[in-house]
Amino acid sequence: MNNSNHIENNCNHSRPSTNPHFGTTAIHAGQDPKQWSSLAIIPPISLSTTFQQPSPAKPVEFEYSRSGNPTRKCLEECLAALEGAKYGKHDGLTFSSGLAATVSVTHLLKAGDHIVCGDDVYGGTNRYFRTCASELGIEVTFVDARNTDNVKKAIKENTRMVWMETPTNPTMKLCDIEEIADHVKQLSNVFLVVDNTFMSSYFQQPLALGADISMHSLTKYMNGHADVIMGAIMTNREDLYERLKYLQNSLGTVPSPFDCFLVNRGLKTLHVRMEQHMKNGLEVAKFLEKHDMVRKVLHPGLKSHPQHELALRQCSGFSGMVSFSINGGLKEAKTFIKSLKLFILAESLGGIESLVEIPSIMTHASVPAEHRKALGIDDGFIRLSVGIEETQDLIEDLKQALDEAKKLHSQTSLIS
Ligand SMILES: Cc1ncc(COP(=O)(O)O)c(C=O)c1O
Repeated sequence: MNNSNHIENNCNHSRPSTNPHFGTTAIHAGQDPKQWSSLAIIPPISLSTTFQQPSPAKPVEFEYSRSGNPTRKCLEECLAALEGAKYGKHDGLTFSSGLAATVSVTHLLKAGDHIVCGDDVYGGTNRYFRTCASELGIEVTFVDARNTDNVKKAIKENTRMVWMETPTNPTMKLCDIEEIADHVKQLSNVFLVVDNTFMSSYFQQPLALGADISMHSLTKYMNGHADVIMGAIMTNREDLYERLKYLQNSLGTVPSPFDCFLVNRGLKTLHVRMEQHMKNGLEVAKFLEKHDMVRKVLHPGLKSHPQHELALRQCSGFSGMVSFSINGGLKEAKTFIKSLKLFILAESLGGIESLVEIPSIMTHASVPAEHRKALGIDDGFIRLSVGIEETQDLIEDLKQALDEAKKLHSQTSLIS
């Protein structure tokens, strides 16, 4: 079955088609064996920190591994090609973590500048802007970006960066990238960044929709095997690229060659993994929607999602992220999680194995309580990162764990 049929069968609608050459690009871009004297098909891990120069100050291509590294270069070329960045001219830029990428982008700003940020971004991004960037004199305003007018209204004279995440983590709110980009383009000296971690390059292409920078925590879907912490930035803008490349070297926020090798390897199966994540995520969401222990399911692929139409317009598929509210509260959530046999209780997302967590006390504990409350992230709110195991095994695991939570809930209801 080809990609588009698969998507149709899983989602019952049409959406932007995924680049038909994506899988070929993932396997070949930046990987030409002729770049190595050994003609190695798989890029070697180049551990050397420094490179011989034929004459003083005349390096051939690389001089010092922080400013450039052969293994990293293969990965950065591949990332740019996958994200639809100007392949060949501007490679992607990789960083030692997703947050290191965020910090490096924020270094494009100076004291007195202002950021408009979605109100439901990754907890660490929220914390960095609120408690670290603010100490450097950079101001931030959080807005509900589902309505583009809220973004427009928050932009001030000194706004320099608009930072969006879509869908958001963990409440799955979407913003209209194209609409926001159209507005930002009319302003001078403001750029739009989209954190594309939740969708991966496979299902969403922010640069094609007008964003200036697409940012990823490669730690998640892009590497996909839960064994690397790394981040990336892709852009089509020469000015931003040159400055960010300078910052990557000057701040020293670079990844190790070994980690670059692993992510490069992970990317080769991204298209195959994402298809299975989507299938499993949708099946799980549909199953949860029918279960009487579940109050609400959040997944942009469900017709019940308030921004389902936007999701169809903007994305070519869905990842394995599903959030839901369990009947009751923390006790029921904990019983459910304790009873799971396949889903592992852990932070992070986007790996081949299914994970479960309670954002209010785990990934989003650093978000102020009143902010969490406003977003609806209470103690009965559960986030799943659905992996690529066999679909039916996952559904059965969820069913038996929800049944356990239901037993507890019925007992508690009887007592009260
Ligand atoms: C959406 C999103 N952006 C950024 C990050 C930060 O990435 P890292 O953990 O690689 O620093 C995360 C981490 O969970 C994330 O989920």
